[in-house]
Amino acid sequence: MGKLAASILAADLADLAAQVKLVEGHADLIHIDVMDAHFVPPLTIGPPVVASLRPHTALPLHAHLQVDAPEGLFDDLAEAGTDTVSFQVEAVGDPSPVIAKARGAGMRVGLALAPETPVEAVLGSLDELDDVLVLAVHPGWAGQPFQPEVLPKVRGLRAELDRRGLAADLHVDGGVNAATARDCIEAGASVLVAASAIFGSEDPRTAARDLKRVVEAA
Ligand code: DX5
Ligand code: ZN
Repeated sequence: MGKLAASILAADLADLAAQVKLVEGHADLIHIDVMDAHFVPPLTIGPPVVASLRPHTALPLHAHLQVDAPEGLFDDLAEAGTDTVSFQVEAVGDPSPVIAKARGAGMRVGLALAPETPVEAVLGSLDELDDVLVLAVHPGWAGQPFQPEVLPKVRGLRAELDRRGLAADLHVDGGVNAATARDCIEAGASVLVAASAIFGSEDPRTAARDLKRVVEAA
């Protein structure tokens, strides 16, 4: 059964608790894009916002770090109530000690791949991960078009996870909407992440409900 992650990047951040409440009945987790104006040009939000949001929802909070030196944020994110932290494999040298540090801080751990990054970049780490996240857009912005070129990577990761008997979740993030969701699920994704398709809609609750139906039906 596929899961839906609501990415708050396209939400009204001045009204974040209410925005999250709108989608709580249909989303399975809340995806928080942390960007540092170095790894990617935009600057978004970090541990203080996670801590403020934490008491307002029982949904798991997933921080997707699009930052250099992600390990510097782990303790503060864990303290703020982050359940899962994913960081970009391109931002680190050897992912293993960074994964261990995140786990040591008490969080589930994932690696994320930019569209240009081949699956080989994460294959050596798969056994250590709870999540793998394939970006289908350039890291940095909501509202970009889905890049179907990443679907073979999703298929490749699904095959490798299954071959090794690993239960890690496989996320597709970026450009996910009712039209692209089915291809992602058919390629083997278990979690779809959507910002604009949910919070860019006039009715985020209905948008989340409809997207969840697609995810479940695929
Ligand atoms: C991109 C982020 C995505 C983004 C998706 O850097 O990692 O999570 O919020 O936005 P949409 O769903 O609008 O493509
Ligand atoms: Zn993201």
